[in-house]
Amino acid sequence: MIPNINSIQQVSTDQSVVCLIGKDGLLPELKLSVSEKEYVKRCIADNEDVITVNSYYKLAIFVKEKDKLEGPELFEDLRIAGVKIYDELKRYKQKSIAITSGNTSTGALDALSEGIILSTYRFAKYKTETDKDSDKFLLESIALVNADKELIERFKDLTEAVFFARDRVNEPLSHLNAEAFASSIADFCKGAGLGVETLTRKQIEALKMGGLIAVNKGSVDPPTFSIIDWNPDNAINKKPLILVGKGVVFDTGGLNLKPTNYIEDMKADMAGAAAVSAVMYYIAKRKLPLKVKALVPATDNRPGKDAYAPGDVITMYNGLSVEVLNTDAEGRLILADALSYADKFDPSLVISMATLTGSASSTFGNKAIAAMGNADKEYLSLLSEAGDLAYERIAILPFWKEYGEMLKSDIADLKNIGGKAAGAITAGKFLENFTTAPFIHLDIAGTAMISEKDHYRPKGGTGSGVRLLALFLEDLASGKTNKVK
Ligand code: BES
Ligand code: ZN
Ligand code: ZN
Repeated sequence: MIPNINSIQQVSTDQSVVCLIGKDGLLPELKLSVSEKEYVKRCIADNEDVITVNSYYKLAIFVKEKDKLEGPELFEDLRIAGVKIYDELKRYKQKSIAITSGNTSTGALDALSEGIILSTYRFAKYKTETDKDSDKFLLESIALVNADKELIERFKDLTEAVFFARDRVNEPLSHLNAEAFASSIADFCKGAGLGVETLTRKQIEALKMGGLIAVNKGSVDPPTFSIIDWNPDNAINKKPLILVGKGVVFDTGGLNLKPTNYIEDMKADMAGAAAVSAVMYYIAKRKLPLKVKALVPATDNRPGKDAYAPGDVITMYNGLSVEVLNTDAEGRLILADALSYADKFDPSLVISMATLTGSASSTFGNKAIAAMGNADKEYLSLLSEAGDLAYERIAILPFWKEYGEMLKSDIADLKNIGGKAAGAITAGKFLENFTTAPFIHLDIAGTAMISEKDHYRPKGGTGSGVRLLALFLEDLASGKTNKVK
């Protein structure tokens, strides 16, 4: 449940209010007693984060922009203040709030509100609720004073997108096989006016998508391949941008079975697919003037009686042969087919998003998305800027040809693992063989699912990559680079 978000003219005293104070420290017009004003000012002088006063308004919570912070750091500080505000609202059971502000920096109020909104997420569908459940609190409505309509709509759309991705990641295999995943994507995306086509096992076989077919061989459920299309009349680009997401609904590792402590979170292995689908929803809702497609191959990876085996040689959609030396390196196989399929649309840029390697996760933990690619540097720097602003930061890895040489097979064109070293990079290099378009690969293995709550990122699915790509695509649509043609 997403709180209802709307705009109001002014705050009334029969509600709770959150007040963001700008760097000048001046309080906006609010009904406060002299002693309350002094109290708030004293707390500000003492650098307190979140100050709660409780008289004329049901609850009045104050936050001040930190003097020393600017740009991305200031925004993130305010998102985190938003989390504390949400905790206060929960503590005092305040279901509706108005947010107002003094003389704040541009973007500051958005960040504070975003922190509150993103904190409201809960995955409770399998809980039989009791009144004792301390988590039961629901924030019902957030009213922004004098906010413009576009901003409110943007918030709604972005929150829906992020929560969709979180929900999909949290959903277990028992309730989300490839077909169920594909149909949930189709339903969600069609709701935003997107074209969605889902290829079935027969079509996938007819197309000879050898990677997706091989990974699916051990499964009891058929694979799917979803094509999501946003093609607005006013698009500023002729060649589409294409997003590709890894949709492994559960990764047991296959015959290279994952051991205990490595297998438990593998319902999250479709996070890349969930994120790109969510981004498609967002850009369609926002009516971005950009042609964008998303391709989502989906299956589980498990050791059934027909499962593909280490040593197998498979032929991919683009005709390349691959020696499968580890069935747990399955993501790259299904993504490879999707990347080659993308070629037929002659894309200007292809971005893959995937929980692809333990290597990315152990290198960056949950603090950064591993990024790499051969696309123009301008794209990567725009992406990096978007990452800083969304605070879904990317760490750019080298993409040298020498890493690609680690994938030479003795008996086929390529092997699917590059050895112990540089695993995130060799995985990206593997993918590069399957597209002729400018390419960026984002490995979200460390950020898609987290084991402890981290401010406004809940434990479990985080929706990693959604806000990053949403901002990036908005930048492209607004002509921030002339690369998009
Ligand atoms: N889905 C995993 C990667 C992963 C690990 C995601 C941890 C999230 C958290 C992927 O399919 C995988 O198993 N990769 C192997 C590749 C190896 C066999 C070359 C890995 O990284 O260990
Ligand atoms: Zn795997
Ligand atoms: Zn995997």
